[in-house]
Amino acid sequence: MSGSPDTALTPPIARDAPGDAGRPSNSRVALVTGGSRGIGRAIALGLADRGYRVAVAARTEAEPPADAPYARHASGTIHDTARRITERGGTAIAIRCDLTSAKDIEALVRTTLDCFGSIDALVLNAGVDCESPVPELDIDVLDRALAINVRAPLLVAKFALPAMIARESGSIVAVSSGAAGGYRPGRVGYSMTKIALERMCLSLAEEVRPHGIAVNALRPGRIDTWMNRRGDWPGTGHIPLEEPDAVVPGALWLVEQTASTFTGQVVDRADFGRTWGPRE
Ligand SMILES: NC(=O)c1ccc[n+]([C@@H]2O[C@H](COP(=O)([O-])OP(=O)(O)OC[C@H]3O[C@@H](n4cnc5c(N)ncnc54)[C@H](OP(=O)(O)O)[C@@H]3O)[C@@H](O)[C@H]2O)c1
Repeated sequence: MSGSPDTALTPPIARDAPGDAGRPSNSRVALVTGGSRGIGRAIALGLADRGYRVAVAARTEAEPPADAPYARHASGTIHDTARRITERGGTAIAIRCDLTSAKDIEALVRTTLDCFGSIDALVLNAGVDCESPVPELDIDVLDRALAINVRAPLLVAKFALPAMIARESGSIVAVSSGAAGGYRPGRVGYSMTKIALERMCLSLAEEVRPHGIAVNALRPGRIDTWMNRRGDWPGTGHIPLEEPDAVVPGALWLVEQTASTFTGQVVDRADFGRTWGPRE
């Protein structure tokens, strides 16, 4: 299964711009894709609590109807995430961006830089499923998954890296999936996009290592979100289902890495604090 809640189609635009109560203009800046709900929203809120000014990017600007399928998990908009951040004393901008559009992605990065002046961290979280036996695979669904899960993360990096390289610092964290590392029945297309994303991270990590920029991929585990509720995902029932907040500590730790501390790694969130993460 795949798809997405209804979204309003408007050009990318900065809203909920930082006010006087926001973070000081010298605080760090993070751009989070897929920040309207689920794992991306949890990471965006966690980054704000850590003191980052946050650009929240996705398409949804209006709440889905209360009777939408999996309404609790579908709920959330870019403006709602930005509002939650400002209510906690942070600074956020909500930027509408359809990640299938290179123009939207370029505008997303430009708007973030115009509003905040720099980008310290990219959290490449947005993703969609591509669940179907291969003979029945809908080509549009495959193309959408390739665009959002593979092409978009590389394009966000392409447009943001010049500013990061100019400052010789930054961190890029991509949200991958355990599906990149093993067989998932009915999800050949999805697995393929996530292993491509991980290869992108490993190769990009080497390209930008001389500039001090870290690039890592995080497999979040099985998280109770709209995407998870929508999917059938046979063969994953044994993995504990956790709330999006469970991803935040590991994601924040990765965001704060540099090329000389931790880069070019694919890590499982469940191993955070065991095989990777802060030293005792
Ligand atoms: N949940 C899990 O168990 C699980 C497991 C492994 C990996 N993951 C990965 O975790 C990441 C987040 O997934 P989630 O579980 O939080 O799913 P989710 O609740 O469905 O959230 C997906 C996010 O991606 C955004 N998105 C989708 N299409 C987009 C587009 N065309 N342009 C811009 N944004 C788009 C959505 O925003 P809009 O609809 O507002 O655009 C939403 O914010 C994904 O990369 C997923 O593959 C999840």
